Amino acid sequence: MVKICCIGAGYVGGPTMAMIAFKCPDIEVVVVDISVARINAWNSDRLPIFEPGLEDVVKGCRGRNLFFSYDVEKHVAAADIVFVSVNTPTKTRGLGAGKAADLTYWESAARMIADVSKSDKIVVEKSTVPVKTAEAIEKILTHNNKGINFQILSNPEFLAEGTAIEDLAKPDRVLIGGRETPEGQKAIEALKAVYAHWVPEENIITMNLWSAELSKLAANAILAQRISSINAMSALCEATGADVSEVAYAVGKDSRIGPKFLNASVGFGGSCFQKDILNLVYICECNGLTEVANYWKQVVQINDYQKSRFVKRVVSSMFNTVSGKKIAILGFAFKKDTGDTRETAAIDVCHGLLGDNAKISIYDPQVTADQIMRDLAMNKFDWDHPQHLQPMSPTAAKKVDVVWDAYEATKNAHGVCILTEWDEFKKLDYKKVYDGMQKPAFIFDGRNVINVEELRKIGFIVYSVGKPLDPWVKDLPAAPPS
Ligand SMILES: NC(=O)c1ccc[n+]([C@@H]2O[C@H](COP(=O)([O-])OP(=O)(O)OC[C@H]3O[C@@H](n4cnc5c(N)ncnc54)[C@H](O)[C@@H]3O)[C@@H](O)[C@H]2O)c1
Repeated sequence: MVKICCIGAGYVGGPTMAMIAFKCPDIEVVVVDISVARINAWNSDRLPIFEPGLEDVVKGCRGRNLFFSYDVEKHVAAADIVFVSVNTPTKTRGLGAGKAADLTYWESAARMIADVSKSDKIVVEKSTVPVKTAEAIEKILTHNNKGINFQILSNPEFLAEGTAIEDLAKPDRVLIGGRETPEGQKAIEALKAVYAHWVPEENIITMNLWSAELSKLAANAILAQRISSINAMSALCEATGADVSEVAYAVGKDSRIGPKFLNASVGFGGSCFQKDILNLVYICECNGLTEVANYWKQVVQINDYQKSRFVKRVVSSMFNTVSGKKIAILGFAFKKDTGDTRETAAIDVCHGLLGDNAKISIYDPQVTADQIMRDLAMNKFDWDHPQHLQPMSPTAAKKVDVVWDAYEATKNAHGVCILTEWDEFKKLDYKKVYDGMQKPAFIFDGRNVINVEELRKIGFIVYSVGKPLDPWVKDLPAAPPS
């Protein structure tokens, strides 16, 4: 029986390995992690991450050929194929701080693999890593190898949170990069055979290691670029009276462009986009490609601009101050159908409002109060470390309240900000929300989920990203010349 071990039981390691075990009853899959709490949660009825459909897949094979363990070394030693799906945070100090990937966790995983291995292994990069990481990993493994043969493959993951199970069951493509040597090709075939249990052969693409590593960064950069492009248009729409949804619809009808990833919003979030682009920028700079680096940097800069533009709209609309005012935040996750808050736009918006002394009341159907408080107390980039190693600043926001109901959050509020596109926010009884609020009642829709006209009829002053401005908002430009 082929034995797979995956190091890292996170958003990627957990669901991907569960899918492999589910589809391949003839393969034993063990997911290991240094976080005991995470492993215990994977073995319990309350999985550590929320993902539609995940529970059924896990329950379908856990205890059969899918296991979760914190005995990392034992299972790595026993495996034929070792996936590495550990954190790859952005460096916060030293060379490349604020841009380059911090490979501390990757390196320590590689050293551990070298230490405990007694048989040949295929080591698979599942984490998103800088181009040429495989070469570094290869060096660590071969310099400690005691005659063992390691083959390194790159198999970047393209799942999107919120639709991970669907994406894993029917991937657009599976990408496998490997060495162009006979041993490298043999390793590629072995991994291909795993995916071939359920993925059609024509969707399994093989290439060299560097192309595979770069393809992942390129895909995320281009997806994020589409969002920044439409968000840049949203600012122009507000200035000219155009409607960004109409513009996006017209543009997306062009079959060369297509409709996906053209929703204007308060800004993209998630653990990957910003991190991967900054990483790409750093690689470009290291290769002397200043113009290329600056081009991609702009995608992140527009995203930051969009978040701060939103905060300025809120503050300027509400008589240029939110000091002492209650603002309800509806949605904290970086997108709907996930409880993940990594790099969510909500963090920057909340910091912006707290900076102006607002009192905020947050409701999200999937994010715990504990997580929100951690997020608001954490320094930039510190979220991407194993949880028990995350440094906390002691200044946990005192003016923050987390509640379990949208009506509770909006009660007596002066303004409401919608920051995640949860379906339930489309169906709220907005008359009830309005009646419970201070007047004038403001609503700022950062995800374009509400019906602007209906809300204006109720009496709200409405701002919706990229939509023609409410006369009230129009008189108060959000971005005064600096
Ligand atoms: N989240 C996504 O949607 C997504 C999609 C594609 C790729 N990726 C990439 O996949 C990688 C993992 O992302 P994630 O979202 O699963 O992260 P995560 O933080 O959810 O999980 C990483 C896990 O690795 C564990 N870990 C760290 N070092 C370890 C070690 N030495 N031994 C054992 N366990 C260790 C941590 O405790 C943590 O549980 C990252 O490189 C990320 O960029 C993420």
